[in-house]
Amino acid sequence: MTSNSHPDSTIKLYDLHPPLDDFRTEVLQGLQKPQKAIPAKFLYDKRGAELFDAICTLEEYYLTRTEIAILEDRATEIAELVGNGILIEFGSGSSQKVRILLDAMPYATTYVALDISRQHLLESCASLAEAHPGLEVIAICADYTQPLDLPEILSIKDKHRVAFFPGSSIGNLEPKEVVQFLKNTAALLQSNGSLLIGVDLKKSKDILEPAYDDSQGISAAFALNLLTRINRELGADFDLEQFGYRAFYNPVGRIEMYIVSLKNQVVHLDGVEIPFRQDETLRTEHSYKYTVPEFQALATLAGFQPKCVWTDPQQLFSLHYLRLL
Ligand code: AVI
Repeated sequence: MTSNSHPDSTIKLYDLHPPLDDFRTEVLQGLQKPQKAIPAKFLYDKRGAELFDAICTLEEYYLTRTEIAILEDRATEIAELVGNGILIEFGSGSSQKVRILLDAMPYATTYVALDISRQHLLESCASLAEAHPGLEVIAICADYTQPLDLPEILSIKDKHRVAFFPGSSIGNLEPKEVVQFLKNTAALLQSNGSLLIGVDLKKSKDILEPAYDDSQGISAAFALNLLTRINRELGADFDLEQFGYRAFYNPVGRIEMYIVSLKNQVVHLDGVEIPFRQDETLRTEHSYKYTVPEFQALATLAGFQPKCVWTDPQQLFSLHYLRLL
């Protein structure tokens, strides 16, 4: 681990040097499975991150604005629950959401951001530190989906630690991975900890499907950008004209997103021939949706006790506040 103060001295950076994912190996493996699939984390190159930001502003993609509305409505209540605790954000994002909370917590002393992307982390921490002079901002470059040991960094033993995981990113994990992730989170928080987490709710597919296959084709462009990235970074020869996109709600409780081959074709990568049949799919993402009791049951398996849950009037999205038992 390396630690240093960023030139902007209000930010302290700890770099845990998260191992870089092997894009080439994971893509080759994923393309040779009976159900072709590539891990969703690879969707977020620079262009992918821009397209995802564009998705978040779409009329059809209700998640972002609904979660923000819940946070704005409940900020004072949440601030009281957090008290003078340390706010630890997983995936520092655009920091728009945590700002709503910090604005309601003028007495907050410490904010910790965890993100795998060093640059993203520093940018969002810098803008937050500027907006909140006097707030101690600690940036930790780490893969928060893996078990982490941060005692040295978070040595303030008696402080209440509150992990903040917005955006329903938990929905992109499989349910069994959710329990492991929540157990890792519990270990990081130690006994005096809480979790504030945004979770998208189950609802009619008439609302869900357009959120993931919008009229402007941004969701499709987001998925297909993965092929552009594979061509550029790995030298493959995907013909972008010959692939489409499909998203649908599977009643087991998830949106499934696929790139679809529009004809029989063969793609080349690293000397390997990858055949695609017409209509064959390549899975890019699952996005699970949970009722309030379903998510509370998963959290309970990981040792959390449901304390509060807030939803919007249309019951589109939920924000859970859970405490360690
Ligand atoms: C990041 N994650 C919560 C998004 C979701 O809603 O599952 C990813 C996404 N993919 C396409 N649209 C949104």
